[in-house]
Amino acid sequence: MNKISIIGAGMTGSTAAHWLAERELADLVLVDVVEGMPQGKGLDMAEAMPIIGRDAKVIGTNDYAATRDSEIVIITAGVARKPGMSRDDLLKTNAEIVGKAALETLKHSPNAIFVVLTNPLDTMAYLTMKMTKLPRERVIGQAGILDSARMRAFVAMETGVSVENIHCYVLGGHGDEMVPLTRHSNIAGIPLREYLSADKLEAIVNRTRKGGGEIVNLLKTGSAYYAPSMACVQMAEAILKDKKLIVPCAAYMDGEYGLKDMYFGVPVMLGGGGMERIIQYDFDEEEKVMFAKSAASVKETHEALKSLVKF
Ligand code: APR
Repeated sequence: MNKISIIGAGMTGSTAAHWLAERELADLVLVDVVEGMPQGKGLDMAEAMPIIGRDAKVIGTNDYAATRDSEIVIITAGVARKPGMSRDDLLKTNAEIVGKAALETLKHSPNAIFVVLTNPLDTMAYLTMKMTKLPRERVIGQAGILDSARMRAFVAMETGVSVENIHCYVLGGHGDEMVPLTRHSNIAGIPLREYLSADKLEAIVNRTRKGGGEIVNLLKTGSAYYAPSMACVQMAEAILKDKKLIVPCAAYMDGEYGLKDMYFGVPVMLGGGGMERIIQYDFDEEEKVMFAKSAASVKETHEALKSLVKF
């Protein structure tokens, strides 16, 4: 059995464990700073396995030693922004949490591939790569699958067509400036721009951009976790099964799309080696402008990180 360690046993981490165990994709270790909580969730999940006939072993712990020899490490540890906390305060706090999680797990799993979910996502993936000094293939940020899935869900709600027929591609940073590529999106091969009126498409694009905020406003406490965790399950499965799956993820840019030394949401190929290839799309002028705006916003957060944290 493969082994996946999930750092941060909160809503996203424990839900990811739930989906992964149900699919019997790996043995799972949940790590959290809170004492007892990861142990309780791990034991509870382990006790569910006989009912569904799955032999995934699930444990929770406060000790990184239990993560030894993991093939994949998923980082969801972090805090949400609290009242009175500036963006920089949040950045610093989450950078400390994610940096420690990455280095501690790397000690015990020197060959692991890292999937980062903690926000601000692109910047936390950048930090993880810089701290661990791993090649870019082995540090991937989750966001594009989630943002694209939200757009697909909204298109399905609007059209009544199966989600399986709906293909949407959302690139760029995981924020309000993300880049939904309507020109490349389609329903069973029919371009989305032909299937939906311009007004309806624009409404879907706007709702996609604000998709995370919509859930936060509804939940009142906390943020989305079902779709984010399912997105990282798809990434883990593609890696463990060496699927060569092309999906949008945050990857380290080394000249691709004219971007350098930053993480950004682009189509990548996921396989046994992690992020094996970056796929280049041809953009039209409008898409180039949106892409550049989103990149500038992510770069700004990267620069803020560099002024706050040494690596
Ligand atoms: N080490 C391990 N776990 C930690 C640490 C740490 N140093 N600091 C905090 N945690 C844990 C918290 O105890 C909590 O259980 O991280 C967990 C975060 O879980 P939630 O607060 O439930 O947050 P969640 O909704 O899961 O989101 C986690 O993913 O999608 C992103 O924006 C989201 O950055 C957030 C992250």
